[in-house]
Amino acid sequence: MTEIQIQEALAKFEALIREQDARSEEIKKQGDFVDFANLEKLTIGVCGGDGIGPIITNEAARVLAFLLKDDVDAGKIEFRTIDGLTIENRVAVNKAIPDDVLEELKKCPVILKGPTTTPQAGDPWPNIESANVAMRKALDLFCNLRPVKVPEEGIDWTFFRENTEGAYAVGSKGINVTDDLAMDFVVTTTEGTQRIARLAYDYARRNGKNRVSIIQKANVIKTTDGKFLNLCKEVGKEYPEITTDEWYIDITTAKLIDKKRRTDFKVFVLPNLYGDIITDEAAEFQGGVGTAGSANIGKKYAMFEAIHGSAPRMMREGRGQYADPCSMLRAAVMLLSHIGKQAEADKLERALDICMYEEKKLHITGRADGATCEEFGNYVMETLSNLK
Ligand code: IPM
Ligand code: MG
Repeated sequence: MTEIQIQEALAKFEALIREQDARSEEIKKQGDFVDFANLEKLTIGVCGGDGIGPIITNEAARVLAFLLKDDVDAGKIEFRTIDGLTIENRVAVNKAIPDDVLEELKKCPVILKGPTTTPQAGDPWPNIESANVAMRKALDLFCNLRPVKVPEEGIDWTFFRENTEGAYAVGSKGINVTDDLAMDFVVTTTEGTQRIARLAYDYARRNGKNRVSIIQKANVIKTTDGKFLNLCKEVGKEYPEITTDEWYIDITTAKLIDKKRRTDFKVFVLPNLYGDIITDEAAEFQGGVGTAGSANIGKKYAMFEAIHGSAPRMMREGRGQYADPCSMLRAAVMLLSHIGKQAEADKLERALDICMYEEKKLHITGRADGATCEEFGNYVMETLSNLK
């Protein structure tokens, strides 16, 4: 390694420190949550994304518009389509989110977003940052809320994944110091940790859940995970009725498959990357990532999405119309609850349970031998109409 290489790496590191310090100061200045339920008029952005994204997103938007018809007719809720968050457009401007798309997104306090393609090494695309990750940062959606339920197995978990820090904060800004030495960085801030911890404990309190598990690897990643653990524990002291426990991420992945132990878990709070990994594992118990929705919540904005990808292979094979909209419909349940439409959220959740697990009049197979996405949407709306 040469002196110049060290100086260049230090200059890059300095820029990261300055950027993250500015972000941490911004968090300190933030006010309270916007009360979405009390807005005079709410614009819901519908942003299709790539691959099967527009197909399943439109279907979920159609079901939402059906449920919210009175508010839409009264002009209280407006759905706005936001085109352009496609891999082709992102590559053309070499940005994770094109500026005009970001501007449109910022006009919508609530967003329903389809999956977007994330370039990775070996793809034909340049290595631009994931649109998901960029949107979470740009709109400061610091909480990724992912519920997983399997009632017959006693599984009822809610994950509070920190969504803007950890290994993701500067995930696309690691440093290749030399050809032989690469470094990435993990970021934990005080405010960033306290706000996700508060959300998790408040949720536990509101919903009568008596345990919060703090997941980390503080025995090895001592500085950032250690800080995350200590701050979460401090916040936990403000909630004496709730038991706090701490688990390392490795043993947690094992305990989730321990049938006797896993039903003790209720609410999890965890740094970004561990949350990413373990929510895929958790979703598998309820039928896979295709069945799980996810809410990305910040103080000013909230975005609701599937936890799976854009299924480019389905599109290549011309099977897009057979895509399964269930994950987006589960995301729509969370959206309804977030905007204060709890009765509608409960209804949609009930209809989805009927269509997916109980009555199962239509089957989605992803191929021509199964129902289309649109047929499934119609089935959900019929089921909604028959609910009391
Ligand atoms: C998720 C996804 C994203 C993530 C990818 C697409 C960047 O896996 O939402 O869990 O890692 O957060
Ligand atoms: Mg993931």
